[in-house]
Amino acid sequence: MTFCLRDMAVAVLTTADPRVKTALSREFAQSWRDARAAERAIPLGTAQPPDMPSRPDKPELLDPRDVPLRKPGTPEGRIALLHAIAHIELNAVDLHWDIIARFPDIDFPIGFYDDWVQAADDESKHFNLIADCLEARGSHYGALPAHAGMWNSATQTEQDIMGRLAVVPMVLEARGLDVTPGMIALFKQAKDKPAVDALNVIYAEEVAHVAYGSKWFHFLCGRHDLDPTPTFHSLVRRYFHGALKPPFNEEKRAEAGLAPDFYWPLVERTKP
Ligand SMILES: [Fe+2]
Ligand SMILES: [Fe+2]
Repeated sequence: MTFCLRDMAVAVLTTADPRVKTALSREFAQSWRDARAAERAIPLGTAQPPDMPSRPDKPELLDPRDVPLRKPGTPEGRIALLHAIAHIELNAVDLHWDIIARFPDIDFPIGFYDDWVQAADDESKHFNLIADCLEARGSHYGALPAHAGMWNSATQTEQDIMGRLAVVPMVLEARGLDVTPGMIALFKQAKDKPAVDALNVIYAEEVAHVAYGSKWFHFLCGRHDLDPTPTFHSLVRRYFHGALKPPFNEEKRAEAGLAPDFYWPLVERTKP
């Protein structure tokens, strides 16, 4: 039996230990790239992804309202922020492998898989960079409680590839572009160079993930003769609970193929 790309995805998703998960993810991404470069692509195959990815016993997962808030101006606050980022990166590793395994009935050009394998590899590196920062500060991923609802957007869009693309890369990862410069400034102010360096890597690479989302969303709109902007709005309203919040990083969003008329109409109008 040949080990196909979707078997690789399921192997990552069903690995609980974060460092083992990211190591496996990076190894599979390298095998995929090597095979592509040698023009002997790994078959896509089929494999059933789990409803929820496997995770370690720690961190304890709490409702976001119960996750204690810590002041970002303190060393403890910065550790809590790094911990929250590590949690997001680990979830992103699983999200990118999940999109590879979840929709076998949709016929995509091979570039779709190149993109999400690359994104999964990037997220694995991001998790490791932030986990290293935590460990260098005497903490580790799992030392603090984390957000329990991270997989909700995946569950809600498990039957809808366009909904998945709209919500995960084009809303959630685009939000990352909005907030990362502020986090870089915070660690700069604390003269924390390793954290600044790690966040700069993340910031530079996340633009591509949003761009992959936008590219394949537009591809499917073209295939089904749909107008991308209203289609995006209705999918986000269906699957994403809560309004989008400015300020937006309009420059990086534009670089990633997200025009202002995609996101501004989804901002909640506040009464004057
Ligand atoms: Fe990331
Ligand atoms: Fe990402």
